[in-house]
Amino acid sequence: MTPAYFEFQNAVKLLCGQNALDRIPDELRHLKAEHPLLLTDALLLRLGIVSAVQDIMVAEGCAPAAVYTDIPVDSSLGAVNRIAMVYRESGCDSIVAVGGGSVIDSAKGARLVLSQESDDILSIGGIENLHCGRHIPFIVVPTTAGTGSECTGVAVIRNEQQGVKMEFLSPFVEPDVAVLDARMTLRLPARATASTGIDALCHAIEAATCLQSNPLSSAYCSAAIRLICANVIEAVQHGSNADARLCMAMAATMAGIAFSNSMVGAVHAIGHALGGVCHVAHAEAMGILLPHVLRYNLPAAAEGYAQLLPEMVGWEPAAATPPAERGKAMVQAVEDLLALLHAKAGIPLRLSEVGVNEQQIPRIAETALNDGALIVNPRPMLAQQVADLLHGAL
Ligand SMILES: [Fe+2]
Repeated sequence: MTPAYFEFQNAVKLLCGQNALDRIPDELRHLKAEHPLLLTDALLLRLGIVSAVQDIMVAEGCAPAAVYTDIPVDSSLGAVNRIAMVYRESGCDSIVAVGGGSVIDSAKGARLVLSQESDDILSIGGIENLHCGRHIPFIVVPTTAGTGSECTGVAVIRNEQQGVKMEFLSPFVEPDVAVLDARMTLRLPARATASTGIDALCHAIEAATCLQSNPLSSAYCSAAIRLICANVIEAVQHGSNADARLCMAMAATMAGIAFSNSMVGAVHAIGHALGGVCHVAHAEAMGILLPHVLRYNLPAAAEGYAQLLPEMVGWEPAAATPPAERGKAMVQAVEDLLALLHAKAGIPLRLSEVGVNEQQIPRIAETALNDGALIVNPRPMLAQQVADLLHGAL
């Protein structure tokens, strides 16, 4: 159903192509940045994946003023504040973040702190209302194809003390430029390729069918789902296929643009709680929860799911499915894809496979209820229903 009113925004400039990294120095010059802080993690640095970016920056006269790699697996409030401190101490004037979700979220948090000339991200809560601040030039180079974080105005950062993931929404976390270059994901292992691809699929399905969906974000969702279904198996099986990699990167970005303009839903609400309480990796939580939430939502979302069937299975099989069966068939197609990725890449399908036990369920359910994404899920969910769903996924 078309909403009576909606807004749609995406101010991130996208550089997309097999050699897109080469344009980073031009973009830094355009942003009047001369002393970037290069933010990445130790593994990416050791694997030499970051050197493609670093070499270009050095060769073009915009070498990093500092390289910071001490990023935890889950971005944390403490890490964000430390990055802001290193930025100031090193005389940096811009940020180039090269990494997956944690690196990008940490960079976003640090950029927010620096823009407000603060030294503690917790002191700038309620940031949706911030309209003024210093512009910190910010370029993001994702090394996974999943989070879509390179083009969203939200940072998800873990509060270590409280064991919860906090969402920081602000124009000050939205990058100036996102660079999609297939070279960044060519060596991503099969399991990470599969799970991050499912995270992107999840963004697209939830953004298209949540209560805040709108026609513009749904268009991005449809295109993203089509690209994921056409390329994820190829990217898993032949990781060096640059075309498949770039298609997955584009799909993740489109799904990110979509959900930042509509919302996600219960898969993410419960997934954030699993990350906060049990440290389950976000993308793997998505793959485990997705079919259970889709089955739960079917009575309320069958029509929305039916509209996504052609993107999942192709137009002819979708047309051959009786209209009343299409919603259910879409859910089945998601389950079939997950089973295939489980067989080919070993992504987990049960919570017990990632160490979650029955005793943790009440706390996960309670945490999920406080997540804003649950409010826009197409079918209401109370604590008991979240707990029942988690028991079903154990
Ligand atoms: Fe996600």
